[in-house]
Amino acid sequence: MLDTRISRRAALMGAGAAAAWLASPVRALVQAAAKLQIPAFADELIARMTLEEKAGQLSLMASAWGGGTALALNPPQQDSSFPRQVEEARQGQLTGVFNGNGARMARILQTAAVKESRLKVPLIFAADIIHGHRTVFPVPLAEVASFEPDLARRTAAAAAFEAAGSGIDWTFSPMVDVARDQRWGRGVEGGGEDVLLGQMFAAARVQGFQGGDLRSSERMLACIKHFAAYGGAEGGLDYNTVDVSERTLREVYLPPYRAGFNAGALSAMASFNEISGVPATGNRWLMTDLLRGEWGFDGFVVSDYTGDEEMIAHGFAKDGRDAARLALLAGVDMSMQSGLYRKHLPDLVRSGDVPEAVLNQSVRRVLAAKALLGLFDDPFRRIDEKRERSRSMLPATRALARESGRKSIVLLKNDGDLLPLPRSGKTIALIGPFASGQHDLIGPWCVYGDDAKAVDLATGVRAAIADKSAVIVAEGSKSEEPIAGGIEQAVKAARRADIVILAIGESQNMSGEAQSRTEIVVPEPQQRLAEAVAAVGKPTVVVLKNGRALALQGAVANAPAILVTWFLGTETGHAIADVLFGAYSPSGRLPASFPRAPGQEPYYYAHKTTGRPNPPGPLEPYKTHYRGIPNSALYPFGHGLTYGKIEYGGLALSSPTLSMNGEIAIGARITNRGSRAAEEVVQLYIHDRAASVTRPIRELKAFRKVALAPGQSETVRFTLRASDLAFYGLANKPVVEPGMFDVWIAPSAESAGVQGSFELKA
Ligand code: NOJ
Repeated sequence: MLDTRISRRAALMGAGAAAAWLASPVRALVQAAAKLQIPAFADELIARMTLEEKAGQLSLMASAWGGGTALALNPPQQDSSFPRQVEEARQGQLTGVFNGNGARMARILQTAAVKESRLKVPLIFAADIIHGHRTVFPVPLAEVASFEPDLARRTAAAAAFEAAGSGIDWTFSPMVDVARDQRWGRGVEGGGEDVLLGQMFAAARVQGFQGGDLRSSERMLACIKHFAAYGGAEGGLDYNTVDVSERTLREVYLPPYRAGFNAGALSAMASFNEISGVPATGNRWLMTDLLRGEWGFDGFVVSDYTGDEEMIAHGFAKDGRDAARLALLAGVDMSMQSGLYRKHLPDLVRSGDVPEAVLNQSVRRVLAAKALLGLFDDPFRRIDEKRERSRSMLPATRALARESGRKSIVLLKNDGDLLPLPRSGKTIALIGPFASGQHDLIGPWCVYGDDAKAVDLATGVRAAIADKSAVIVAEGSKSEEPIAGGIEQAVKAARRADIVILAIGESQNMSGEAQSRTEIVVPEPQQRLAEAVAAVGKPTVVVLKNGRALALQGAVANAPAILVTWFLGTETGHAIADVLFGAYSPSGRLPASFPRAPGQEPYYYAHKTTGRPNPPGPLEPYKTHYRGIPNSALYPFGHGLTYGKIEYGGLALSSPTLSMNGEIAIGARITNRGSRAAEEVVQLYIHDRAASVTRPIRELKAFRKVALAPGQSETVRFTLRASDLAFYGLANKPVVEPGMFDVWIAPSAESAGVQGSFELKA
């Protein structure tokens, strides 16, 4: 919905500011430009700018308001004060700020820019809206477990509604880095290990944030990050070197970024890492030849936080001046936080080290984006204190958080149909560091969420059962520290109960930026707690909190029922209780494989077969596996149970062959033999038996979520074309090669499901 209350907003701006804006030369230009192409309007403005003002348009800083959330969330920065930032806005030294504090702050800065600066170019306000604004949705990795991209579109739209309502024009999201090493902490912000799923969620999130009209005060600009291959860090160590072949880059890491751009994202963030020797921020091949040349991207690129300056530590730039030069010439239009652009670009142009045309081109892109966001028409279009309050945490938004929460939960195992639990007649011991308390609910990378508004597990469980007093809570252990007497107290609680819910796993500071782990297991004090509680012998449900796939061991792995609940945000407790007590039959699927042991990482289902694959069955000598461990996951990508009993049968191919310009239909009969309704995520995988470049053991090509009532059967059909079988050949270009393909319709990447084969004919 377009907001047309311009005169009212102008009044809210304060008479002076409004009058200054309405009389400003930029405003006149924009009005005149309404009939012009955006570049023409931008060029007229650029022609009026000094070199310093141009560099200012390319300089984005963390908000310094009241200490500034931004400063707390990123590495500590040098002195910065809000009055100084206001002055920078006045001097045309600032293009915008990020992770600020709402409409009031934005109004002060925007007023300085559009009332008191020479050219009155509006500021842009950015923020890390990663999984919700005030209402916090599940962390992105969790939401991918829904295998429902449209859910991500809806939560992104809801986040934009709240965030844009509080003055934010631009989100540093979605993060679409493919993550195949679970030691890396930032997988929690992304789309998991799979390329297809990554592409679908990237596109859906962009559509949700941006909608159809970027001028709308309910939408904001998306930013595809971190370009590129940030998730390929060696050893899963954050910020570490990435060294991948161009083929793997193109085939695995790049597609989700491209899907985001194809969905309309008009900004990108350069990643911190180097790629095969060249930092992304200074990588002209990446930022210009590929992104703009080959892909036709015409938005703008921002560095990550001090990413340009970090090229000095990388050993790529000699000093700050050199870093600014390298980044701009590579194609990074805007510098985040280092201040190097505004410090060095004017002189770099004067000395002839940077052509002014390159500087102008970056400014043009930034101005064009501001114009697209409607900021030249009305710089206050997203700044409205009243609206900020009225959009915050509406019941419908919280309901969406609960829906997305329960759809993100994955049921790993359910021996003896322990779940769902009865709502009455049983005493429940709720044990573990995440049993109660409003900590660790909203999850990592959440700038604006409020712990105090989040529903914890104990509250959710009590709300779902008949007798609220039938719940005994025992913390047992802190997440990484034991509690004196904690295990004894937990064991006592377990003895008094009929059922144990063990809420254990990772706290929210154990994943996210700079939170790589060497041992991706349940922390030791909690593992000890789990062993002691298991020894009591009560039916136990493990409710796992995690920001990554974990290697489950001992009593945790052996518990009869395990739910993966990630970080679900504001409605955590209700969402988990919906699944525990059967109001919702779990439908989530793993977006990242749970390995058998941490040392298997990086483990991902779409690995190569190698020349010595171990055949199914016992481990054989001199075959591909670690000592004593099969080269497979404990719970693979795509795995997740329901409360139904799902059976796969009747694979049918429309033909044994597929021609280069034809289609093949592949279907299977999916039946729910259970007594409860279920939603099954039916997955189609292929394997190319022999090709000029070796192919993964399986690749996901399509999936569909189907709802099945008890006893219901449905034939699920997929269509494949030759182009779906393309891969990057020896020349790093897509090729389609004739030959035999195996095909599975299966409930996970490593389950048999139903299998067949077809031939692709030349
Ligand atoms: C650094 C992170 O890598 C990036 O994802 C984030 O958007 C910026 N900090 C700004 O907070």
